[in-house]
Amino acid sequence: MNYFEYRDGELWAEGIRVSDLAGKYGTPLYVYSAKTLRRHYKAFDTALGKLDHLTCFSVKANSNVSLLRLLGGLGAGVDIVSGGELHRALTGGIDPRKIVFSGVGKQEHEIREALKADILMFNVESVQELEHIGRIAAAMNTVARISIRINPDVDPKTHPYISTGLKQNKFGLDLLEATGAYLMAKETPLLEPVGMDCHIGSQLTQIDPFVEALEKLLTFADRLQSSGVDIRYLDLGGGLGITYDEEAPPLPADLGRAITDTLAGRDLTVILEPGRAIAGNAGILVTRVLYTKKNQAKNFVIVDAAMNDLVRPSLYGAYHRIGEVNLKERTPVEVDVVGPICESSDFLAQDRLLPTMEPGEYLAVFSAGAYGFSMSSQYNSRPRAAEVIVDGDRATLARRRETYADLIDLEV
Ligand code: LLP
Repeated sequence: MNYFEYRDGELWAEGIRVSDLAGKYGTPLYVYSAKTLRRHYKAFDTALGKLDHLTCFSVKANSNVSLLRLLGGLGAGVDIVSGGELHRALTGGIDPRKIVFSGVGKQEHEIREALKADILMFNVESVQELEHIGRIAAAMNTVARISIRINPDVDPKTHPYISTGLKQNKFGLDLLEATGAYLMAKETPLLEPVGMDCHIGSQLTQIDPFVEALEKLLTFADRLQSSGVDIRYLDLGGGLGITYDEEAPPLPADLGRAITDTLAGRDLTVILEPGRAIAGNAGILVTRVLYTKKNQAKNFVIVDAAMNDLVRPSLYGAYHRIGEVNLKERTPVEVDVVGPICESSDFLAQDRLLPTMEPGEYLAVFSAGAYGFSMSSQYNSRPRAAEVIVDGDRATLARRRETYADLIDLEV
């Protein structure tokens, strides 16, 4: 459920016409709905309401500082995977004690920065990383709270590029290695094992893999307890899917219920790290039609947004619904919606039935609020798009459009 809707033949973002936003800020333009973000965050918060819990928005999905500030204001924590994301989160006013730091390749300076900020915990992904954190904590004479990321070997039944909890993936430790890691952490001064976590994949459309992973973690936590390691935080990662096309993923409430039932009677704080389920359908990418053309095989709609703005279709073959900003009676045609980049992989949609478009008209690419701008680049020396947050009938520029000067500013 989101607040982008057609009224009187036009697409609105909450109380503002999308065509007005495109006219004012130019295209390509990312538009986010504050009301949708709040709604999605609260859906998670309510879903876990019967448990001690913390919802840590996954910054990689959308790292705009204004958006982080909005979520932080509602009480959200964040899941980060780099020093850059830590910097964004702190700039956005996120409470450091609500920050969890995941990722297989944390670097020394990033670990130092996180320790200095006194984050809630490091989700540790290897024994060497654990030793490294231990040494840095000792040198800084500060406590490092850690959780071990378990690879539970559960099939999330999603795209192979975004499956992370199978034993052939690079993430986390298997149960045997994890036992050793916990015992080592327990014996290392200044390492405090407080949590256990996993993240099995992204765009999951079923509950069962979450429950299977949770059950494995709980069995393991019980075994650890008998070895004297008592964890307080159980972090199940992110991964809840959204509707791009016709998927019918479980709602946060369904996930919350399953977790609440499985955890009955346990004294643990549950952490979730949703990214896509909060931001995905809270954002659209608005683009302008430049030209249309036809060859013997296909019809093309050439737009001013490209794979540098939204790489998901090119990279994962991902489907994003595309619709007119101003509806008109017209004949539908099967088209490829493509950008100006010099690669055949530069498409936003292929073989898609769309109304016949004219140059100058706007299209909206839906479900673009997660892994849209955050995965964008300047490929082909295209300045990155602007980002706007709409709240009711007010629009605020959250990131200005890059300029040609921005493109070369860092080059010496
Ligand atoms: N926590 C960890 C440790 C993660 O690695 C991820 C995503 C999340 C949380 C958030 O997952 P979400 O709730 O958003 O599914 N670029 C891909 C998605 C990559 C996800 C990577 N990890 C895409 O555009 O589909």
